[in-house]
Amino acid sequence: MICGMQKAPHFLAFQGSPRKEQSHTHRLLLETLRGIQEAGGSYRLIHLIDLPIRPCLGCYSEDPSSCNPRHCTEGQLADAMRGIHQSLLASDGFVLATPVYWFGASGWVKNFLDRLTSLENAGKLLEGKIAGLLACAEEAGAAHTLMHLMAVLNDMGLLIPPYSVVYHVGREPVERDPEALAYAYRLGWNMVRLYRLAGNRGWWRVGSEADQI
Ligand SMILES: Cc1cc2nc3c(=O)[nH]c(=O)nc-3n(C[C@H](O)[C@H](O)[C@H](O)COP(=O)(O)O)c2cc1C
Repeated sequence: MICGMQKAPHFLAFQGSPRKEQSHTHRLLLETLRGIQEAGGSYRLIHLIDLPIRPCLGCYSEDPSSCNPRHCTEGQLADAMRGIHQSLLASDGFVLATPVYWFGASGWVKNFLDRLTSLENAGKLLEGKIAGLLACAEEAGAAHTLMHLMAVLNDMGLLIPPYSVVYHVGREPVERDPEALAYAYRLGWNMVRLYRLAGNRGWWRVGSEADQI
C-alpha cells in the first residue's frame, strides 16, 4: 500500500560536463530536476568538476576487504568523496548526467563511479535507492553510454525507472529538442513515483520472498 504520509524523497544530481551551466548536459538535467520538484521531491545539484575527486587506486584488486568507505576516503584519497558518500547514504538516490566522450561517460563521471565501488563492496550500501540517467552527444554513443551506466548502477542495487533512456543528440540547443525535454522531465517524475512505490524496502533481496505481497 502506498501511504499518503510518505516522506518526500531527496536526490543528489551529479552533472558530469566540465562546461557546467553552458553544457547541454546541465540544461537537460535541469528538466529532470524540475520534474523531481514538481512531483514533490527535492534535490541538490553538484557539478563533478567542482569537486576534488581522485581516481580509484584499485585497492579492491589488491585486497577486496580494503575496498570500504573508510579506506576509500583516507590517505591519498582523502578528498570530496568522503562528504559525497555521506550525502549519498542519507539520500534516496541520484541523477547522473554525462556528456558522451568517446562512446562512453566523461572521465569525471567514470572517476566518480569507480569511487562508489567501496559502497557496493562494503555491503551494497546504495541498494534500493533510485537512479536516473541522462546523456548528451554530438552524433553517436548516447544510448550505448546509458546502457553501460544502467548496468553499473543496476549491479550496485539501484532501482531505475521505466523510460530511462534519456538523451539529446546534436549541436542544437537542448531547448529545441522537445522530445528529449519531455523524457527528461518524465524521468524526474518517475524517480519520485518509483521511490514511493518501491524504494528502500528490501524486497529484491534473496530471502525476503516471505515479505512479497
Ligand atoms: C573528449 C570528447 C569526446 C567526445 N566523444 C564523442 C562521441 O564519442 N560521440 C559523440 O557523439 N560526441 C562526442 N563528443 C561531443 C560531445 O558529446 C558533445 O559536444 C556534447 O554535446 C557535449 O556535452 P556538453 O555540452 O554537456 O558538454 C566528444 C566531445 C569531447 C570533448
